[in-house]
Amino acid sequence: MYNAHMQNKKRILTGDNTTGKLHLGHYVGSLENRVKLQDEYDTFIIAADMHALAYPKYVFNTDVVSDSILQVTIDNLAVGLDPKKVTFFNESAIPEIYELAIIFSMLVSHSRALRNPTLKEEIKDKGLGDNYSLGFINFPVLMAADILAVKSDLVPVGEDQLPHMELTNEIVRKFNSNYGEVLKEPKPLIGKIARLVGTDGNAKMSKSLNNAIFLGDDEKTVKEKVMSMYTDPKRIHATDPGTVEGNPVFIYHDAFNKNSAEVNDLKDRYRLGKVGDTEVKEKLFSVINEFLAPIREKRVYYENHLHEVRDILSSGVKKTREEAVKTLDEVRSKMKLSAF
Ligand code: TRP
Repeated sequence: MYNAHMQNKKRILTGDNTTGKLHLGHYVGSLENRVKLQDEYDTFIIAADMHALAYPKYVFNTDVVSDSILQVTIDNLAVGLDPKKVTFFNESAIPEIYELAIIFSMLVSHSRALRNPTLKEEIKDKGLGDNYSLGFINFPVLMAADILAVKSDLVPVGEDQLPHMELTNEIVRKFNSNYGEVLKEPKPLIGKIARLVGTDGNAKMSKSLNNAIFLGDDEKTVKEKVMSMYTDPKRIHATDPGTVEGNPVFIYHDAFNKNSAEVNDLKDRYRLGKVGDTEVKEKLFSVINEFLAPIREKRVYYENHLHEVRDILSSGVKKTREEAVKTLDEVRSKMKLSAF
């Protein structure tokens, strides 16, 4: 499986927390780039099941977390990642990653760890209050360990992950300057839409905000979600001139509708008050439904062949672990961490 040709390629490591299934926000933020770059890069996709334990909702609900390893892997396969080329693994199967995370946590001050806008946003959005764990504050360090364990060059992620990428690069610089060159600074790669709005107009599509369209949603669910989408709140009648900019239905048309003549016509008529929300939404529904149809079909295939998904993960764990062991050995040796 792991031939010389693959070793010469630059690497991607990216992935998803195992807290459910993936949605359109994940697609435009990261999945689309994963698919596009899978031939050019030796790609590792992590089902981040240790990350999931950072959230109070999941740490005592590990059935969901373990099922979600399969679900997010199926989502990645369904959008077109080729298991013959791409390495899939789950985080908790690689103890070297958490060993690295403990080591790296010594290089990050407590106040630096807290100075992370995405963590603060999650505390608010998920209503965590003061009820978050040490592991929650440390999860960006764990993400750094995921990335650095395989010495990834590029990390396709949504915009909300940029603070974690900054921390990752700080860890690399601190490590290399103090102990010697071992780690590599990875670059983030943001998707064509940095952050997809939710169906409710919230700035971010998110399962916890209940405003997501999932890749596996059936036709009826997609229809319900699209038809009840938030649009221009100032527009009461179809004959009122409407605003296109920042309007979720048009953001989605721009993201998913390849027929730009249709999109432009809808926008023109919307601005003039010559089209109703219903027509705009019905067209959007067809576009999203058509986009999801082949993904849904592949999801069903893998749901019915879970043993294939498990085999893909188990060979990926083996390959990833070989890489992580090498990195950990180098880290330990540079730091003179001894084994007697
Ligand atoms: N934290 C990421 C998210 O919330 C998921 C993730 C875990 C990840 N480990 C990673 C992404 C490593 C990129 C690289 O979506």
